[in-house]
Amino acid sequence: MTDPFRSDALAGTTAFMAGATSGINLGVAERFAELGAKVYVISRSQDKVDATVSALQSKGTDAAGMAVDVRAYDAVEASLKDCRERFGKIDFLLSGAAGNFVAPALGMSPNAFKTVVDIDLMGTYHVCRAAFEHLNAPGASVVNITAPQAVKPYIMQSHVCAAKAGVNMLTQCLALEWGPLGVRVNAISPGPIKDTEGMRRLAPTPEAEQHAKNAVALRDFGEARDIADACVFLATSAGKYITGEIMYVDGGMVMGDGGMGQVQG
Ligand code: HXC
Ligand code: NAP
Repeated sequence: MTDPFRSDALAGTTAFMAGATSGINLGVAERFAELGAKVYVISRSQDKVDATVSALQSKGTDAAGMAVDVRAYDAVEASLKDCRERFGKIDFLLSGAAGNFVAPALGMSPNAFKTVVDIDLMGTYHVCRAAFEHLNAPGASVVNITAPQAVKPYIMQSHVCAAKAGVNMLTQCLALEWGPLGVRVNAISPGPIKDTEGMRRLAPTPEAEQHAKNAVALRDFGEARDIADACVFLATSAGKYITGEIMYVDGGMVMGDGGMGQVQG
C-alpha cells in the first residue's frame, strides 16, 4: 500500500473534479496534480476549463477537461466517459460546483431558488450518478463539497441551506448504498475560505469579513489548501475506513460560540 503521506501518494490515480476551475475546488485540483494524479475538470466556462487544463499541463500533469453545466445530465455523462477513455477508471471524484447569492426567500423568484437547488443538489446527484460506472471499485473515494448552511439556518440563504442539506443526506445515502461495493462517499464542509467567490458574495466588506472571522473558533479564514489536504486524506489509504462522514474543515465554525456569550471577539 502506498504511504498516504508521500509526495507522490496519488501517482497513477485519476481524479475527476466538477466545479474545479476556480476557488476552493481549483485548489483541490492543483494539490492532486502536485501529488501525481491525472486530473479532469469540468465547469460551465470553456475559458476557465482551458485555463485550468493549460496551467495543470504546464506543470507536467496529465490534465483534460470539458465545458459542462452540472444541471445537464447528458453532458455530465459525456464528460465522465471522456475522462474514462483518456485516463482509465476514476479513483477520486469531487463534486463541488455550486451557486450562491444573498437574498431573502421572499426576495427571490421560484426559479432563483430552484437554480441553486439544481446546481448544488441535482448537480451533485448527476455527477455521482453518472460517475458510478466509471469508478475504480473497490477503493474509489467520492467527496462532495457541502457548507455550514447544510446544518445551520441562515437568513438570506434559504436556497443554499436547503440545497446543501440535501447534499449532506445524499452523501450519507450513497455511502450506505455504495459501501458494500467498496466505494466511500464523504462530504467536506469548508468554513469561510479566503480569496473565494463564496466569501466575496457573503462578506463583501471588511466589516462583514471581520464578523465572519469572529464566527470561527480559530478567528481566521481558511485556505483552499486546507480543503485540498482533507480531500487527499480521504482519497488515500489514510481514509480507507471513513465513509458517510461530513468532515468539517471550518476552524470550528459549526460549533458556534458555545452559546454563553463568553467567547471574546
Ligand atoms: C435574487 C437572483 C439573484 C439575486 C440571480 N437571481 N441572482 N435572485 N437575488 N442576487 C435569480 C435570477 O433573477 C433568475 O431568476 C435565477 O436566479 C437564475 O439566474 P441566472 O443568472 O439565469 O442563473 P445562472 O446563469 O444559471 O447563474 C447561477 C447563479 C450565479 C447561482 C445565479 O450567481 C452563478 O453562476 N454562481 C456561480 C458562482 C458562485 O455562486 N460561487 C459561490 C459559491 S459559494 P428569474 O426568475 O429572474 O429567472 C457557496 C456557499 C458558500 O455555494 C458558503 C460560505 C460559508
Ligand atoms: P467558485 O470559485 O465560484 O467555484 C464554483 C465552481 O463551480 C467554479 O469552477 C464554477 O465554474 C463551477 N460551477 C458553478 N456553477 C456550475 C454549473 N452549473 N455547472 C458546472 N460548474 C459550475 O466558489 P467557491 O467559493 O470556491 O466555492 C466552491 C465550493 O465550496 C462550493 O461547493 C461552495 O458551496 C463550497 N463552499 C465555499 C465556501 C467559501 O468560503 N468559499 C465555504 C463553504 C463551502 P464556472 O463558472 O465555469 O461554471
